[in-house]
Amino acid sequence: MGMDPSLLTAAAAALSVVVALYLRFRTRLAPGPRPWPVVGNLYDIKSVRFRCFAEWAQTYGPIMSVWFGTTLTVVVSSSELAREVLKDKDQHLADRPRNRSTARFSRDGADLIWADYGPHYVKVRKVCNLELFSPKRLEALRPIREDEVTAMVESIFRDSTLPDGSTDEQGIEFKTIVSNGHKFGASLSLAEYIPWLQWLCPLDVEAYDKHSARRDRLTKIIMEEHTQARHKSGAKDHFADTLLSLKEQYDLSEDTVVGLLWDMITAGMDTTVISVEWAMSEIVKNPRVQEKIQEELDRVVGRERIMNEMDIAGLPYLQCVVKESFRLHPPTPLMLPHKASAKVRIGGYDIPKGSSVIVNVWAIARDPKTWKDPLEYRPERFLEEEIDVKGHDFRVLPFGTGRRVCPGAQLGINLVTSMLGHLLHHFRWSLPKGVKREDVDMRETPGMVTFMHTPLQVVATPRLRTSHNLYVRVPAEI
Ligand code: HEM
Repeated sequence: MGMDPSLLTAAAAALSVVVALYLRFRTRLAPGPRPWPVVGNLYDIKSVRFRCFAEWAQTYGPIMSVWFGTTLTVVVSSSELAREVLKDKDQHLADRPRNRSTARFSRDGADLIWADYGPHYVKVRKVCNLELFSPKRLEALRPIREDEVTAMVESIFRDSTLPDGSTDEQGIEFKTIVSNGHKFGASLSLAEYIPWLQWLCPLDVEAYDKHSARRDRLTKIIMEEHTQARHKSGAKDHFADTLLSLKEQYDLSEDTVVGLLWDMITAGMDTTVISVEWAMSEIVKNPRVQEKIQEELDRVVGRERIMNEMDIAGLPYLQCVVKESFRLHPPTPLMLPHKASAKVRIGGYDIPKGSSVIVNVWAIARDPKTWKDPLEYRPERFLEEEIDVKGHDFRVLPFGTGRRVCPGAQLGINLVTSMLGHLLHHFRWSLPKGVKREDVDMRETPGMVTFMHTPLQVVATPRLRTSHNLYVRVPAEI
């Protein structure tokens, strides 16, 4: 005779409550909002999570226990504790919690982003550090980045003079796939956090299969484009070609190659673009900053040619603008979640094995204890003091730090600086008629990656001479 499913569910619920209570009393957990039975704090978490956690930290302190169903998540919101998590105890806090969808897409961590820390991770990370993101590779790909940035300028110029609204179909397909991926990854569905509920709430397999098929179709097109280009004109240095050529050398499976390709697209595309959008929103709200950047660009680059990445070293104020924008608007404000592979102690509290750990880098970079006038957008603070944003200064960690630091940090910085430099060199930016600075909506959307709640609307006016071909795309030859 089979057991009544509702009885089974009730028994499982009771058991998980007992286990959670046992864990709570046996170990010294960080304080936090009172969890409800079974659901924990899941229904108390507001949709923009990093703001909610920053608010809660005012009450419970810089290390907090938050229960996602029956899964414990420890949230850290101070630079000292970030150092403990990402440096001192990094070794035991470098795994990734995977929900059912991220497990499915990453083929259970066969990629880099969702892989646990172990031999596979170390091998793939080596491919990133030595091959894909080495200074030599970044330099070799510079013409492609400049091609893309000048294409952006050309399209804005065209739109600012004759609005026609053309669309790039492959670009739209990319955006849709990435955005669906983020949605699946950030799911707050109860079943993701209560393992015994999962058999009651099966995954929407059809939606996942549809997404996977769409992703595989685009992967095939990309791979074919690159194979054809290679046959036509010999070896190429593009990212996808490098990845394909390293498959044998590093003994990478098909799943890993495809996983890596999509990791880079998902982790690198939106983060870079929204960094520029947030920076532009601060710049139009602060005309003083815009004038200062343009004065620097005119002095260093002049008005007779366009800037390139080689100019960046001579543009210290532009670099500070980028850093200040990353400080106030890190595109991944809670980084990516880490998972404890062993029981560790942080800030005097226990983090049991298997718990998730989140660092609220958004809150840390606005902490009045470490930043003067933290809410003020003032790039000069980075001129007054040498502050690194790539993981050496725990007050500002837009790329994380330690074992899982973003491997694309330098690439991201190059792209954001180059895009901003070009946008401000070529155009003067203003708000549409009738819109005041304080009207710009600086709220964020919920999700792992924070877009502007209301996409920024600005008016571009060309400021370089239009007769010198300075607004045309510069195609790359590699
Ligand atoms: C403005 C740009 C970017 C920002 C702010 C950013 C930020 C981050 C952060 C916070 C993490 C998580 C670190 C952690 O979990 O401890 C991360 C991971 C990652 N990022 Fe970036 N990123 C950016 C651009 C890029 C680019 C351009 C690429 C590649 C093309 C990239 C590839 C990755 C990958 C593969 C990971 C996973 C690393 C791992 O799990 O070990 N990112 N990024």
